[in-house]
Amino acid sequence: MIPYGRQSINDDDIKAVIETLKSDFITQGPKVEEFEEALSSLTGAKYAICCSSGTAALYLAVRALSIGPGSTGLTTPLTFAASANCIELAGGKAAFVDIEDETLNISVEAVEEYCNQFGPPDVVIPVDFAGIPSDLERLYELKERFGFYVVEDAAHAIGSSYTTRNGQKVQCGACVHTDMAIFSFHPVKNITCAEGGAVLTNDPKMAHRIRCLREHGIERTGGWRYDFPEISFNFRLSDIHAALGISQLKRLESFKRKRRELFERYREELSDLEKEGRLILPKIPEGTDPCMHLFLIKIGENAKVDRDTLYTRLRAQGVLTQVHYWPVHLFSYYKGRGYGPFHVAEKVAKSCLSLPLYPGLTDSDFLKVVTLIKQMV
Ligand SMILES: Cc1ncc(COP(=O)(O)O)c(C=O)c1O
Repeated sequence: MIPYGRQSINDDDIKAVIETLKSDFITQGPKVEEFEEALSSLTGAKYAICCSSGTAALYLAVRALSIGPGSTGLTTPLTFAASANCIELAGGKAAFVDIEDETLNISVEAVEEYCNQFGPPDVVIPVDFAGIPSDLERLYELKERFGFYVVEDAAHAIGSSYTTRNGQKVQCGACVHTDMAIFSFHPVKNITCAEGGAVLTNDPKMAHRIRCLREHGIERTGGWRYDFPEISFNFRLSDIHAALGISQLKRLESFKRKRRELFERYREELSDLEKEGRLILPKIPEGTDPCMHLFLIKIGENAKVDRDTLYTRLRAQGVLTQVHYWPVHLFSYYKGRGYGPFHVAEKVAKSCLSLPLYPGLTDSDFLKVVTLIKQMV
């Protein structure tokens, strides 16, 4: 099977993990600290706090903002469930607004309308969909006006950046326009630790609280003594995972190049299908320099197949595509609570399919995918 995403592990990655296995620390220790420093220096955010997954990172971020009963968190329906679930897990209420058709990111206009209609939420969680930065600069203006927090879900977007209106280049995760950001290091993401995540922030108080919440809420008070003013779970990352993360981070630029190369090749190979209205292809928005996480096509109105038929036929030929995403508000947990409709997200969800995009995708596998798409669509 050719998957839609896959890790790329080389001998340096393996060596880094083995060396750590032979060292004194295997759970959270010096490698986690080193990984955190490397993430800070990549993004420019002052503090990076590693944890066991992107989901844990989102939960830690909202807990550190004191999201709880009575709070509302606003996010996009076209995302992985964790972007919304973190709010509910912390005891708050998730809310959604629609997305922009072109970037598939949260619509800043819709956030503004929500604030005007219902009052500001406590936190907004934009998702840098497929690696494309959300419009954080415009969201920041609303943040200043309405006073909500912003947590950037950059699970797809380590290595991506955007340019502000006055020409400043900002890395996703930098927290220039946000209070916090999170990354995921799941194997299909731009770099991997096998499992892992990180929260980034420039605020020392929030960084301290996240570090405590990462370990049961515990604060060290000197010697063997500790206290916990609030409770949490164990969300530590191990040094074994961090060693892999450090090694992968050194390869991020080459991963980004390869992903962009494949992105452009897909666009070239499939451009005739777009002209004929059989497919709609993704584009890189002006002012962004994404590390492309997904190549998401939309089925056009002149296609011979619908999305589900294409998924099934490709699968039968050994190509395992994926739907990113079935909208979160349509899952059983959220259904019946009066959300939506979100016309853009729901339309995209019915027509989208993510094609294989990862640094190790071979030429022959790439050609197999485009040949099948040209025959089937
Ligand atoms: C947008 C988004 N947010 C959060 C997560 C959660 O990350 P993890 O799988 O590391 O828990 C994912 C991962 O699938 C994701 O795609």
